[in-house]
Amino acid sequence: MYIKELKLVNFRNYQSLDIEFSPNINVFLGQNAQGKTNLLESMYFLALTRSHRTSNDKDLINWQSEFARISGLVVRDNRNSLSLDLAVSKSGKKARINNLEQKKLSSYIGNLNVVLFSPEDLSIVKGNPAIRRKFIDMEFGQISSQYLAAVTNFRKSLKQRNAYLKKLQYQKNGDRVYLEVLSDQLAQFCAQVVYQRLIFLSKIQKFAQNIHSEISNQTEKLEFSYQTFFDPADKSLEEIYEIYKNKFQDNSQKEIDRGITLYGPNRDDLLFLINQKNVQDFGSQGQQRSVALSLKLAEVELIKSEVGDYPILLLDDVLSELDNVRQTHLLSSIGDNVQTFITTTSIDDIDRDLVKNPNILNINQGTVS
Ligand SMILES: Nc1ncnc2c1ncn2[C@@H]1O[C@H](COP(=O)(O)OP(=O)(O)OP(=O)(O)O)[C@@H](O)[C@H]1O
Ligand SMILES: [Mg+2]
Repeated sequence: MYIKELKLVNFRNYQSLDIEFSPNINVFLGQNAQGKTNLLESMYFLALTRSHRTSNDKDLINWQSEFARISGLVVRDNRNSLSLDLAVSKSGKKARINNLEQKKLSSYIGNLNVVLFSPEDLSIVKGNPAIRRKFIDMEFGQISSQYLAAVTNFRKSLKQRNAYLKKLQYQKNGDRVYLEVLSDQLAQFCAQVVYQRLIFLSKIQKFAQNIHSEISNQTEKLEFSYQTFFDPADKSLEEIYEIYKNKFQDNSQKEIDRGITLYGPNRDDLLFLINQKNVQDFGSQGQQRSVALSLKLAEVELIKSEVGDYPILLLDDVLSELDNVRQTHLLSSIGDNVQTFITTTSIDDIDRDLVKNPNILNINQGTVS
């Protein structure tokens, strides 16, 4: 798939923009603070209805304005093109597909797939578990509406159960039967989330393993290990559900005393192993970078295999950060199939043997030429 046309109104430092892109490689060239990342952010937002660098949608609205609007024309393999449209204002955001307003964002997400790679992605490897969980939820959510629904239901159910646990904490004779109902419901959603995470992780691991092996000249074996309070290997959905159900049953008094749910996928983590050693603890800076790169390229392949169409690849300031081997690997693996957007302050960072005929757009204070 590719974005043929992008329109921005009052998005960050773009007051009004209407541009066409090449289906292959597009380069955003410009000095610092001109709006290169803002452009990538607008496409990421158009796909996922969330920014990669702020959780507050209002930050996206131009300081002089009350609303922002992002529209894109998306061309997909073997399917009709789609016009996607997001409007953000103080009262929230509205999503439209072909001018039809979508009541739920979950029915909007997934029509445009993007993979963003920026220097901050090193934090997926090095940072805290919450970053890895967010990575998992965003990436699997955009390829599976089933996963997206499981996560949404899980969050709602967790909130309900936590509120009720808080209540029981102070009401010694509160209704325990209702807690059982809530626990059973939560156990189902926990199981759905974890079960689907495991399936997608084993799929993405296969792709990442091949890519990483190539980047490391066949010397390193990359593996992912899902961390939770039980051994998740080869468990069925039903088995995982039973594990949570029992866990909640056995620990209900403890949870009432604390007034909070103590188990769930919101506490899990993902470990990256190279030759069976934890990369977070033992990996060199270069190895950590390679893992982040392998992971992102694997995501591209996972989306292709699940959705049937390559996603759009957004590369923010990464070329200057990668050494030659990794840069060559990245650019050659993109090939002609993936519409790619590269930001850079210097055209010299781009190897013209690898990037043939890029569409170069000059970015200057919120204008494109
Ligand atoms: N809501 C907003 N309204 C208007 N301008 C904004 C808004 N949010 C950010 N900006 C401006 O956008 C500029 C940053 O743009 P961006 O992050 O895209 O820069 P960049 O071209 O990627 O720079 P660098 O090369 O340093 O990464 C900032 O200077 C900021 O003033
Ligand atoms: Mg930038």
